[in-house]
Amino acid sequence: MDLPPRTGSLKWGTYPEGVLPLWVADMDFPPAEAIQQALAERARGFLGYPPREGDRELKELILEALGLEAELAFMPGVVVGLYAAVAAFTAPGQGVLTQVPIYPPFLAAIQDQRRTVLANPLRETPEGYRLDLAGLERLAFATRLLLFCHPHNPTGRVFNEEELAAVAQIARKHDLIVVSDELHAPLTYEKPHVPLARFLPERTLTLVGPGKAYNLAGLPIGAVLGPKALVEAVKRHLPHVFPNVLAMAAWKAALREGGPWLKATLERLRANRDRVAAWAKARGLGHHPPEGTYLAWLKTPIPKAAAFFLKEARVALNPGESFGRGYDTYVRLNFATYPEVLEEALKRLSEALKKA
Ligand SMILES: Cc1ncc(COP(=O)(O)O)c(C=O)c1O
Repeated sequence: MDLPPRTGSLKWGTYPEGVLPLWVADMDFPPAEAIQQALAERARGFLGYPPREGDRELKELILEALGLEAELAFMPGVVVGLYAAVAAFTAPGQGVLTQVPIYPPFLAAIQDQRRTVLANPLRETPEGYRLDLAGLERLAFATRLLLFCHPHNPTGRVFNEEELAAVAQIARKHDLIVVSDELHAPLTYEKPHVPLARFLPERTLTLVGPGKAYNLAGLPIGAVLGPKALVEAVKRHLPHVFPNVLAMAAWKAALREGGPWLKATLERLRANRDRVAAWAKARGLGHHPPEGTYLAWLKTPIPKAAAFFLKEARVALNPGESFGRGYDTYVRLNFATYPEVLEEALKRLSEALKKA
């Protein structure tokens, strides 16, 4: 077990000694050797300004990985892109659609800029979470923008082609622009991720980055891909910074040489995913194993469940209430850690559940 040092880590440094942190979306594993080497090499070489438009070869690798042809601009992260898109395509007071529960910065990008969240809750079915397409259509007339998350954080849904085609149809009918955050795209298990842009190229802005799949969240970089006019509109709202040279070097190494590391990591994550699912089932918690991501969305019988588990189990999870209104009995558990850490956390959570 090669746990990261506590210094400089948000995940490991926020809570007191002894608390097991299964919250913010970093993995506990060191990055691929090829990425470490690329960073060291870059640091020995040129660290001045890169071209404004970034590394051309990297752009091609990103488009190739997604199987898309599009305009591409680098950004200092994916959340920056969510904020820029809300600013570019809506005005204060207007509504922005999104599926809840949702990764909290989606809500912040809307609300911080004085827009309103038009919440389209995912429906829970015995087979897992599904898009409420009728609900989406009912809200679509009231906005120009849908912030979509695929794979979906926190439920781990990887939407299938039928669902993506239905979203595309609604977007066309109601003249929507869709920003599809596909940052978790390489992290899927049984079924492959298909970009929404395959179904809706003329209206989709796809946001990607290496941060989640290659565990590089501290290297600020992302990209927005789509039709030129839409990418240009977003760019006008992006901060005027050069793309980070170390982050670009790491992303390039990831796409060129990170495949075996990613494959091995997905195997570890899949084992943990199955372990969490079996544990949740045995305790009667509401859970559908994620099809992608290393995040487990768990429904408990406990109000303010994350605060309860922090106090009673000394395990830090993400509070459900930060993912939308009405989710305070839910928690998000990050299982991208070593089996020993996961087992200890599950043991503590089991003990705490007995006190609930
Ligand atoms: C869906 C999603 N989008 C964006 C981010 C953060 O991206 P960045 O750090 O590049 O802003 C995360 C991080 O967990 C995420 O899960």
